[in-house]
Amino acid sequence: MSHAPDVPGAGSDAPNLDFAGTTPYEDYVQADVLTHLQQLRSDDPGEMVFLVTTQVMELWFTVIVHEWETASRALREDRIPLAMDALKRSADELVALNASWRPLGRLTPGQFNAYRGALGEGSGFQSAMYRRMEFLLGDKSASMLVPHRGAPRVHAELEKALQEPSLYDEVLRLLARRGLPVPRSVLDRDPARRHEPSPEVEEVWAAIYADPDRYAELVRLGEALTDVGELMWRWRNDHLVATRRAMGSKTGTGGSAGVAWLEKRATKSVFPELWTARSNV
Ligand code: HEM
Repeated sequence: MSHAPDVPGAGSDAPNLDFAGTTPYEDYVQADVLTHLQQLRSDDPGEMVFLVTTQVMELWFTVIVHEWETASRALREDRIPLAMDALKRSADELVALNASWRPLGRLTPGQFNAYRGALGEGSGFQSAMYRRMEFLLGDKSASMLVPHRGAPRVHAELEKALQEPSLYDEVLRLLARRGLPVPRSVLDRDPARRHEPSPEVEEVWAAIYADPDRYAELVRLGEALTDVGELMWRWRNDHLVATRRAMGSKTGTGGSAGVAWLEKRATKSVFPELWTARSNV
């Protein structure tokens, strides 16, 4: 396409301005769709950043789920470098996700109240993509599908994620294939059930960390998973603190006890044996 001659700065080194339909950027990014998904429910000027931050976090959840699914598949095929690339990208993405708490981290109760009523019973507790993250980490729970009964696509995706081995299951299977004594009870567990901390798995990680020359690649894998666990813990804690600042000990819009409920959720350990094993190395 030629450049429009009357545009200031147009020349052979200027960007193309002339497109028959929508721009190729739009065709790829769908920015018009993305920037018209903000249906505000109040007149409060602070609601926009609350809604967009939530949407941005949903997008990061989507990217991170994609990375962890890539990593799971790669581990299943014994392609550790591919899995490591995806895990490392996910750690950087978790840092970016966590940085997006900043605009909501200092809400006063008055500021939050200005649009809280407009949220009705809406709560992040109903985020299906967050649930898929938890499932991939091994924190499975069939009851978390219940809120999504009315949304067939979301429900089907969550059901699939519930039934599939988690990222952590794939890690433990790989350790078993490498000859490490991961117990059969862990390997043959119904994948739709939560991974419970296992003393034998803890011993396996302790053995790996105790012999970094022999297990260099597995130590690197363990550390990449530990980064993910730490950053998830940080997300939960930043959420908890933001919630405490914005609403004290009031009940949540989703019907929970609020901060007291979130406190319990925030203490959950991601890849538990990777943390407890450290005491025995
Ligand atoms: C300062 C603003 C926020 C407050 C006051 C708040 C409050 C709460 C509360 C009280 C709960 C417990 C469930 C309930 O009763 O509603 C909850 C859960 C949750 N919220 Fe938020 N939230 C905020 C921002 C966000 C944002 C921006 C996201 C991003 C998607 C989010 C995602 C979640 C998730 C995923 C859960 C479920 C956690 C779990 O199952 O362990 N929240 N939130």
